[in-house]
Amino acid sequence: MKDKIQAVRGMNDISPLDTPYWQWLEETAREVLHAYGYLEIRPPIVERTELFRRSIGEVTDIVEKEMYTFADRSGDSLTLRPEATAGIVRAGIEHGLFRNQSPRLWSAGPMFRHERPQKGRYRQFYQVDVEAFGFAGPEIDAELILMTGRLWRTLGLQQLRLSLNSLGTREAQAAYRTKLVGYLAGHEGALDEDSRRRLSTNPLRILDSKNPGMQSIIAGAPMLIDHLDEPSSEHFTSLEGILRASGVEYEVNPRLVRGLDYYTRTVFEWTTEELGAQNAVCGGGRYDRLVEEIGGAPTPAIGFAFGVERIVELIKKQGLAPPNRPPHAYLAAVGERAIHEAHPLAEQLRDHLPRLRMTVDADSGSFKRKLKQADRSGAQIALILGDDEVANDRVAVKYLREPTPQATIAQSALAAHLAQRLFAE
Ligand code: HAM
Repeated sequence: MKDKIQAVRGMNDISPLDTPYWQWLEETAREVLHAYGYLEIRPPIVERTELFRRSIGEVTDIVEKEMYTFADRSGDSLTLRPEATAGIVRAGIEHGLFRNQSPRLWSAGPMFRHERPQKGRYRQFYQVDVEAFGFAGPEIDAELILMTGRLWRTLGLQQLRLSLNSLGTREAQAAYRTKLVGYLAGHEGALDEDSRRRLSTNPLRILDSKNPGMQSIIAGAPMLIDHLDEPSSEHFTSLEGILRASGVEYEVNPRLVRGLDYYTRTVFEWTTEELGAQNAVCGGGRYDRLVEEIGGAPTPAIGFAFGVERIVELIKKQGLAPPNRPPHAYLAAVGERAIHEAHPLAEQLRDHLPRLRMTVDADSGSFKRKLKQADRSGAQIALILGDDEVANDRVAVKYLREPTPQATIAQSALAAHLAQRLFAE
């Protein structure tokens, strides 16, 4: 036997037992997004490396250590997207979507980061990503947060905690950086290697360090929210007002900095205590300068993304289940003629009943075995086609989940009969 080929580390197969959870989450998210007026956009999975360097930031974990970057056959440096925001901004600029318009957009699909895989942290993972362009006020910040809250409620998820912070404008960030460097330089001996390097390149990133040895230094650092510019401070206060008026519970976490450099002003994260170390299920914030920074006209913007694997895990942890959708009917044919006629009959039924979910038996076993399969499929009704039935243009209808006696029905009357049994309101 030849060696088996295995999946790439950190890249998962989503099994057919799990896809119902994924589909339920994706469908529910789609419904909520459409209800709020968001439209889907589908950018490519591969972009020019430069796009991510410029948007996420040169001195971030993602760009420094985690990107899947390669030269294609023409020698261009390309990267598998580690996140969706940069590509959506690029697409928006390229297609003039921000010109005299304020698009509300969403996108879903796989992202790639070469992180150390563990439970809830993968190298290929899925996000549902949402972005709104052209709105400067705090109302849209509130809208996105309210919409995520509604999604959790619609799914039945509980115990998710919302943290908020404001990172101020780029100018406020620059002024704060000077203060932070002053503080950190005073503790230079205690900084780890990464942080010492970042002290001169991107000191704000030091606050994002996951190194336990760094946490006490970080805890003592001055906080950006105490050095906000006046307009950012007002923006944050109004956002808090809208959230309170809408009954949203949250905490302000001045240590919330997020792992990407494009944020300005509001940032937020939803976390859970039920998933261990990978506790962030959804995160986002404002990025009022990014469109400009990658070549567009100044356009305020805000967005977020949630991790599909993490939400699915939480759905399971909390005992929530996607709606069960077994077939309505299972059509089993016995005998050569009947087997030959099963598909034409099934197609006729499908023509008449577009909502019908029906499995056509493809088993070569005995009648008894076919009935067992019908039962196992979860169908309410078994439609049995034997040579006798075919000879008389009939079908035997067996009710698998109720005491109604078996009936034999003319094939011409079957669609009406099923419509009445299955779909009558
Ligand atoms: P992010 O915080 O890097 O933000 O990722 C968003 C979510 O994706 C996380 O909260 C987490 O649930 C999930 N996630 C991230 N990395 C992994 C991983 N390695 N394995 C499994 N799940 C993961 C962004 O990506 C921003 N683009 C969000 C945004 C949109 N900001 C503004 N607009």
